[in-house]
Amino acid sequence: MSDDLKKGLEGVLVAESKLSSIDGDAGRLIYRGYTIEELARNASYEEVLYLLWNGHLPSTDELEPFSDALMNEREVDDDVLEMMEKLAVADEQPMAALRTAVSMFSAYEPEDDADPEDLKATLRKGRRITAKIPTALAAFERYRLGEDPVAPHPELGLAANFLYMLSGEEPDNIAAETFDQALILHADHGLNASTFTSMVIGSTMADIYSAVTGGISALSGPLHGGANQDVMEVLIEIDESNLDHREWVEQATEEGRRIPGFGHRVYNVKDPRAKILQERSEELAKAGESKWYDYTTTIEQYLSEEKGLTEKGIAPNVDFYSGSVYYQLGIPIDMYTPIFAMSRVGGWIAHVLEYQQDNRLIRPRARYTGPQDQEFVPLGDR
Ligand code: SDX
Repeated sequence: MSDDLKKGLEGVLVAESKLSSIDGDAGRLIYRGYTIEELARNASYEEVLYLLWNGHLPSTDELEPFSDALMNEREVDDDVLEMMEKLAVADEQPMAALRTAVSMFSAYEPEDDADPEDLKATLRKGRRITAKIPTALAAFERYRLGEDPVAPHPELGLAANFLYMLSGEEPDNIAAETFDQALILHADHGLNASTFTSMVIGSTMADIYSAVTGGISALSGPLHGGANQDVMEVLIEIDESNLDHREWVEQATEEGRRIPGFGHRVYNVKDPRAKILQERSEELAKAGESKWYDYTTTIEQYLSEEKGLTEKGIAPNVDFYSGSVYYQLGIPIDMYTPIFAMSRVGGWIAHVLEYQQDNRLIRPRARYTGPQDQEFVPLGDR
């Protein structure tokens, strides 16, 4: 047993994987050998799901039945919709509502008696979860607005269909393509906290619904997926303050506030996903309201150059520009992290399946620093 303790498992290798690779010094991310730039520009989220789950980009003949299966499995049971309405009325947090929805999906799983070692059945279950998450999430939001849910569109892809179910209107091409790209960018990212959580659960051979529910729970934290909401809240705080946005970030930094969307356990340079989302945010700004983009770039410039965070290896991560992109697409702020989950569920399922192919229960150790040889004193004498 190795003696050196690595808090937070920082830098510890626990598995081999063919799914994604991050070069934190070069700011490079690949999914199964394809750069994230190529995939974001040329593929659809459905193609990336297929790539992660099956190991190659699909041909047309492979993509069609895969996309059809995802479309045919979008409906969620009425009981789930009723629960989404109850949780909306109870003003539940969207990530908690999503966690509940995925747990409930398992009650209606047609292959719930499948052997956990049957990885093909697990993949079919994972596909059903992935197909249903947008429907449950959009229904929750509609109920919050006091509206009825919008039934899934029979022709739209996963990304466009989610925007349609949110608003009741088909999104324009820019919105649909931008959102599809955001889903591609968030689909996988090595053994981040939520993916590792799913893997730990999968390593006990628990079912995929449990693994995905665990991933959702881990992603909800502000140090992980929750940061994209925090970034937008900072931008709104700036907008509502009577300070110029530059003064605001100076004051916040002086107060020692950590700006969300900056810093990463693996990247020492700007996250390549942030660069692509910045381009989308700039395009949307040009076509609409530019202040969110301006605030974001000012903060980046101030922190990176004037506060010298670049030298310290602290740079914008994926969450830094996603906030302004989603806001300009009209998506409610507290839906940003659930959207992250809507995409990352593809990576969680891929890593659980990959790990289970050569499974080993994940069970680390802790160095015990507590007392030894305590004498037991009966309650009455304590
Ligand atoms: C995601 O792991 C992944 O791949 C995650 C993710 C994915 O796709 O799954 O990329 C998605 O979760 C992105 C990260 C989102 N979180 C945030 O934006 C929250 C703000 N960032 C931090 O809290 C922090 O940077 C973490 C949590 C992301 C990384 O934490 P680490 O590796 O434990 O780093 P740390 O907290 O030990 O900080 C190291 C140094 C410290 O300086 P010193 O005390 O050593 O001088 O960096 C500084 C920190 O003070 N630092 C920051 C900062 N984040 C870290 N300084 C200013 N602003 C910040 N945001």
